[in-house]
Amino acid sequence: MSDSKPPLTHGKVAEGQHREYVGGKWDEIGPLQFQYLVSQGLRPEHVFLDIACGSLRGGVHFIPYLNTGNYLGLEKEEELVQAGLVYELGEQRALEKKPEFVISDAFAFRHFSKRPEYALAQSLFTHLKQEHIELCLRNLRHIAKPGCRFYATFFEADTVAANPEESHDHMSFYYAAADMSAFGSKYGWQPTYIGDWGHPRGQRMMLYVAP
Ligand SMILES: C[S@@+](CC[C@H](N)C(=O)[O-])C[C@H]1O[C@@H](n2cnc3c(N)ncnc32)[C@H](O)[C@@H]1O
Repeated sequence: MSDSKPPLTHGKVAEGQHREYVGGKWDEIGPLQFQYLVSQGLRPEHVFLDIACGSLRGGVHFIPYLNTGNYLGLEKEEELVQAGLVYELGEQRALEKKPEFVISDAFAFRHFSKRPEYALAQSLFTHLKQEHIELCLRNLRHIAKPGCRFYATFFEADTVAANPEESHDHMSFYYAAADMSAFGSKYGWQPTYIGDWGHPRGQRMMLYVAP
């Protein structure tokens, strides 16, 4: 998988561009995703996987809440994770809570030491072509605990949409809800369309449950 993007230099991180890179609205979309998952039953004792965790917009809320070692973050851009750890979460909190990270652009979930009971992909499928959404769903299904609940946001189209040819961090992809369900069913997930969950840019929510 590849993306053309400007490097996130130290100067850009210092200017807060690690927040902009993941879409901005830091103080809105961070708490929103955390509170939503808690409303869906996430508890400190659960193992939680944040897929495409970026610069920890959600992670700064999930990591302190979860028991030590229960936060797993997967991301393709290592410097975003570093910026999140150093400038957002803080090194002391990281040492205390021991979040685990895997840097991968191919959804290499097998490298985590634990299997998730809850997972979230917030603003990820909105940037991926179908093949990459399916790769994520397939690889996650292999390591998800039975009963695992995977929440994924997407931009909803009424019918099949004309999307960009390649996945891209800063381009939007649209899918019909029926297609999002079908992608999950193909890999043994039980999909449910949740729809509106209060996202300020109108992203919809899917839930995939591992039987
Ligand atoms: C819009 S940001 C959202 C980040 C985070 N979920 C949040 O809410 O702040 C999308 C993230 O997806 C990451 N990403 C895109 N494709 C990916 C892939 N194939 N594997 C892992 N991360 C990916 C990007 O690097 C970026 O950090």
